[in-house]
Amino acid sequence: MPKTQTAPSSAPVIVLKDLRKRFGIGESEHYAIDGIDLTIEKGEFIAIMGPSGCGKTTLLNILGLLDSKIEGEYDLEERPVASLSSRRQAHIRSQQIGFIFQSFNLITRLSVIENVALPLIYKGVSQTTRLKQASAILHTFHLGEREYYMPYQLSGGQTQRVAIARALVNDPAIILADEPTGNLDSHASHIIMEELSDLHKRGHTIIMVTHNPRLTTYASRVITMLDGKIDTDTGAPKKKIDPNKKKPLNKLSKSSKKRLNRKKKASKA
Ligand SMILES: Nc1ncnc2c1ncn2[C@@H]1O[C@H](COP(=O)(O)OP(=O)(O)O)[C@@H](O)[C@H]1O
Ligand SMILES: [Mg+2]
Repeated sequence: MPKTQTAPSSAPVIVLKDLRKRFGIGESEHYAIDGIDLTIEKGEFIAIMGPSGCGKTTLLNILGLLDSKIEGEYDLEERPVASLSSRRQAHIRSQQIGFIFQSFNLITRLSVIENVALPLIYKGVSQTTRLKQASAILHTFHLGEREYYMPYQLSGGQTQRVAIARALVNDPAIILADEPTGNLDSHASHIIMEELSDLHKRGHTIIMVTHNPRLTTYASRVITMLDGKIDTDTGAPKKKIDPNKKKPLNKLSKSSKKRLNRKKKASKA
């Protein structure tokens, strides 16, 4: 499994201000993203829903720096990233972002382990180390025995787990998933969602597009889009209360004090 992320700082991981993305020219010109303001905190698990064509994939591609011809502002970890050179963007992508696509996008002529090791090439890791790391992550996904299979020899669920392993091999802080279970049956979908849920618990920020309302139960925040805009947003979850941090007695409410006194009496009796 990837390392647990370092202690989260309070700064948001992603800030979008009046984000717009225009496609086409002349008559066919239109905004696929039409004024989005969005702040995403570290460690959120966001599900994005909305009808086909509302701009979900376009938004994910922008967040993943695959598309930087935008209007408005995009700050990633407090740094404006849209105007960086494509080389700088590719570098940031290789260090910080993992992609999981609906269509898996494994390279058919490469074995499972070679596919998973691929992102490490862009990081400049030596071949031996690449294969070692790929092998380690495949074992955590219980795919160790299939390292030298070719993609066509895998089931849909296995293929998507390989794709997730590939997205995670460089331990990215942010995981972007575009309908990651779109091609899977419900059993395989839930296995994938459990994997994502596990990554969320380890502190990764996850942004997932899905068509399936049932899968939003795994998310900490649900955003719906309509015509390139945010339609509804359940908002960032409130900061978690530390259960180990007990309130001092004088801060307890009257009813809590009564309950505590009752307990004391009961334990004496
Ligand atoms: N490369 C492109 N060129 C022109 N129009 C595009 C391109 N990509 C997406 N669009 C348009 O942008 C809109 C949003 O598309 P998309 O983000 O794929 O929606 P979704 O993922 O929500 O189904 C659609 O109207 C689509 O036709
Ligand atoms: Mg899409």
